[in-house]
Amino acid sequence: MLDYAGTGRMVEAQVNLNAVASEVASLLDDMIPKRTRLKLLFTDGLPAIEADSSQIRQVLVNLVMNAAEAVGDQEGMICVATGMTNVSRRSLDGTFVVSRGFVDGPHVFLEVADTGAGMDGETRERVFEPFFSTKFTGRGLGMAAVLGIVRGHHGAIGIESESGRGTTVRVLLPVEAIQRDES
Ligand SMILES: Nc1ncnc2c1ncn2[C@@H]1O[C@H](COP(=O)(O)OP(=O)(O)OP(=O)(O)O)[C@@H](O)[C@H]1O
Ligand SMILES: [Mg+2]
Repeated sequence: MLDYAGTGRMVEAQVNLNAVASEVASLLDDMIPKRTRLKLLFTDGLPAIEADSSQIRQVLVNLVMNAAEAVGDQEGMICVATGMTNVSRRSLDGTFVVSRGFVDGPHVFLEVADTGAGMDGETRERVFEPFFSTKFTGRGLGMAAVLGIVRGHHGAIGIESESGRGTTVRVLLPVEAIQRDES
């Protein structure tokens, strides 16, 4: 539960995002329906980030689970991409939630895009709310946890989604060491 406030204890190390993502990808193949194609687009040579690798794993699993559930039994595609980008807070549009500790500069990104059902306006607004779910079986904790983890890493998260048009979630994580107040 601590993840939700972004104050949970983190186990920080130098983390290679591609290594974490390819490790998770091998598990994901079993988690997604057979008619859903999983495409991986990793950018080589990403700099290591200071992160909690198990939390980054959790982010990816939660995002891909949502993508798979959005595609459902239809034919569809989920694309997991990594890369690097230089971002400033000002350059991030209104679809992004930006951590208080966000610092302009180089970030790696993790993107999960799906061709699934997409979200309507209300869902887009409430997607990070704990216990908000539109699913019969959902608990509504997946995206709340993702946001907490992003905040813990002083990153940002953006969602583009429209009903019937699929969803793209992009997580930005700082390359440079996270400045923390010791507590
Ligand atoms: N990729 C997506 N496509 C369409 N809707 C999504 C997507 N990701 C999240 N949502 C919407 O946001 C809601 C909240 O997502 P979240 O992951 O927090 O909860 P959940 O998936 O319903 O339940 P849980 O993750 O706890 O099993 C979902 O119920 C769904 O309506
Ligand atoms: Mg979920």
